[in-house]
Amino acid sequence: MRRLRVLALCNETLVPPETMEGYSEKEIDEWKTEFDVISTLREMGHSVHVLGLSDDLTPIREAILKRDPHIAFNLLEEFHGVVTYDHAIVSYLELMRLPYTGCNPRGMLLSKDKALTKKILAFHRIPSPRFTVFPLGRKVVRPKRLQFPIFVKSVIDDASLAISQSSVVWDDRELAQRVAFVHEHTQADALAEEFIEGREFYVGVLGNERLQTLPIWELRFTKSDVPIIATRKVKWDRKYQQKLGVETGPAEGLSQEQQRRIARLCKKVYQALGMSGYARMDLRMRPDGRIYVLEANANPNLSYGEDFAESAHAAGITYEDLLSKILGLGLRYRAPWKL
Ligand SMILES: Nc1ncnc2c1ncn2[C@@H]1O[C@H](COP(=O)(O)OP(=O)(O)O)[C@@H](O)[C@H]1O
Ligand SMILES: [Mg+2]
Repeated sequence: MRRLRVLALCNETLVPPETMEGYSEKEIDEWKTEFDVISTLREMGHSVHVLGLSDDLTPIREAILKRDPHIAFNLLEEFHGVVTYDHAIVSYLELMRLPYTGCNPRGMLLSKDKALTKKILAFHRIPSPRFTVFPLGRKVVRPKRLQFPIFVKSVIDDASLAISQSSVVWDDRELAQRVAFVHEHTQADALAEEFIEGREFYVGVLGNERLQTLPIWELRFTKSDVPIIATRKVKWDRKYQQKLGVETGPAEGLSQEQQRRIARLCKKVYQALGMSGYARMDLRMRPDGRIYVLEANANPNLSYGEDFAESAHAAGITYEDLLSKILGLGLRYRAPWKL
């Protein structure tokens, strides 16, 4: 790939240092993705200008005018501290006619809202757990069709915010309590959906028009038989991860036909939500083999050694190849201003 001028956009607080030396594991965890992506792009010979952003668009405009980048590498997940503004920054890049990596604004907007995603999936007959939304400040009245056990989470937050083993509720009293908890801790509407008992899979998808899926990845607990749920602690607490033996790797024991079906399903979700660049689908599989889509993640975690990069690696795509592919998809994406 030719040498590119890359404008790396990340949160102001996550601008990585030049080296990891002298930092604790906990400190590194904070900006590891940014560090991995930026340092690898530089090793690949690209010229990377890192821009830390919080609540001002001016630096983006200035950097575009001054540095004339070929592309923005989008590592931002919020603006103004608001996670749902991620799509607006990408819209701004389009208005500035700058190619960018990852998902387009529309795909981001649709996939960020888990309830809206599920409504679109329903139209396409893509299975996802039955659900209802309990808006902030409204009384909790469970529709009869929604049966226990029920899983309660925020409609818009990610990273398993406010998700623990107590997210599964078994009666109306627990439901009301958990909805109140989600409202209070996320300040967002609560999504209550059928709890899907079973295995948990993650599937990476790459592409704009022609799509490629990565090998099916599975979450496992090797030292505990608590139900498989990717809680906040499972995702972020290293000690707890060790205690449970949290592990992700290739899903085993699936037939060729099952794997093909899951890959097809994930591509369908990607297309239904109008996604581009790269994404990761979160799925559950019941013991009878029935698959349900939980959510679609635009611009998933690109850390070296995390699920997305690891599953790419299993498909023979090195970390450098992966970043090259993502840059290439960003450059080729047919944004409306190009037409
Ligand atoms: N309906 C459900 N049934 C079973 N587990 C669920 C359900 N919804 C969420 N979970 C568990 O909670 C985790 C986080 O939920 P998810 O919808 O993926 O939100 P996030 O955006 O925080 O990743 C999932 O990875 C899964 O383990
Ligand atoms: Mg998820």
